[in-house]
Amino acid sequence: MFNLVLFGPPGSGKGTQSENIVSAYNLHHISTGDLLRDEVSRHTPLGTEAKKYMDQGMLVPDEVVIGMISGVIDDTPDARGFIFDGFPRTRPQAEALDKLLEFKNIKIDLVLSLEVPEAELTKRLLSRGETSGRSDDNDEVITKRIKEYNSKTQPVASYYHSLGKLERINGEHPIPETFKLLAKHINKYLLPVS
Ligand code: AP5
Repeated sequence: MFNLVLFGPPGSGKGTQSENIVSAYNLHHISTGDLLRDEVSRHTPLGTEAKKYMDQGMLVPDEVVIGMISGVIDDTPDARGFIFDGFPRTRPQAEALDKLLEFKNIKIDLVLSLEVPEAELTKRLLSRGETSGRSDDNDEVITKRIKEYNSKTQPVASYYHSLGKLERINGEHPIPETFKLLAKHINKYLLPVS
């Protein structure tokens, strides 16, 4: 089993590249953002709680997100591997994930960090906001999301760097070129299925 964390700020292309990676390598995609938006759209108690944070561009509390992840891993016993998109987002989430995987006798193999300058992130997110209907793609909330990333999520990169698992990727290139850069690293662990 091969487990990958796709890391990077809002708008760096994690969701976009996850789709490419899933179709090339047949990994199971876990996006905490998508899972939370699904809870919100179904008006579950978890979704109602999470919405308060998401609408403001703030991170949802760790315990809510960690509980959700554990269930998804358990529900997919035959996966070739997982791609974690938008998780872990804090050091406690990273440590909780390691413990959770250790318990299941698996581990994170590789962390690919998409690096994109802030001005380009804002441009991409505002452009996506014109069609996505997402509540967090307006100027004010984008600024807050990037601030949350810099203060709470960026330290997760140091955590994985200290474990020798982090590779930094320039995410400013067009989508297909960025995918090639990501694939170069993944190919060291796993061959594509398509
Ligand atoms: P989430 O949905 O995870 O948002 P995010 O990580 O902030 O990521 P985005 O979806 O905004 O961007 P992305 O990197 O996936 O980029 P994309 O591929 O879409 O989280 C939303 C909220 O949920 C959080 O704010 C938080 O409240 C909560 N949450 C989620 N996980 C949590 C956790 N673990 N803990 C606590 N709270 C959590 O690309 C963006 C745009 O750019 C697209 O339009 C795309 O077409 C375009 N694009 C992509 N690549 C390129 C390229 N190379 N060139 C040009 N355009 C490109």
